[in-house]
Amino acid sequence: MTPPAPAPAPPTATHRLELADEAATAAFASRLAAALGPGTVIWLSGGLGAGKTTLVRGVLRALGHTGKVRSPTFTLLEPYNLVRFPVYHFDFYRFSSANEWRDAGFDEYFRGDGACLVEWPDLAGPDLPRPELALRLGFADGDAGGTGTARVLEIDAFGDAGLRCLNAAVAAS
Ligand SMILES: Nc1ncnc2c1ncn2[C@@H]1O[C@H](COP(=O)(O)OP(=O)(O)O)[C@@H](O)[C@H]1O
Ligand SMILES: [Mg+2]
Repeated sequence: MTPPAPAPAPPTATHRLELADEAATAAFASRLAAALGPGTVIWLSGGLGAGKTTLVRGVLRALGHTGKVRSPTFTLLEPYNLVRFPVYHFDFYRFSSANEWRDAGFDEYFRGDGACLVEWPDLAGPDLPRPELALRLGFADGDAGGTGTARVLEIDAFGDAGLRCLNAAVAAS
């Protein structure tokens, strides 16, 4: 029997933001973009339609990407070769077990030359590299049907690098 994996470390800091509409999400995304660099790992959780892909689109726009931003739901990975560093956008919604993460051979992308933005990180299981920031997007209270534009964003920062990212991303908000 393999011993149980050690519990992940608790966050070093947390922060909560309200994003009233898509413009607010884009504004946060551009501050987050400025906090990214090669090797940064960002997790994005939250239900379907919460705004994970929209937030990633904002990050890519802020880093100078002018083309389409497709959800990697079917391809698992969409890579972007940008001027400053590559961005790798993952979506593990279709994973049904952690073995799929192991078989996919994506490890090399993490802690490499680019920043990794990961939707549905929990579905990749315990071997997925830990992030600097874990973002959780949800529909704001009173928006139970998910038809409005208000979102709540909860951010967990891990370690000194995560704390630096968080401070940069929430600096002017
Ligand atoms: N504040 C907001 N932030 C992000 N998306 C929003 C917001 N308000 C409305 N939306 C809409 O919600 C949807 C989010 O979809 P998407 O980003 O694909 O979600 P996910 O990737 O979490 O499934 C989009 O249609 C977007 O236009
Ligand atoms: Mg998505």
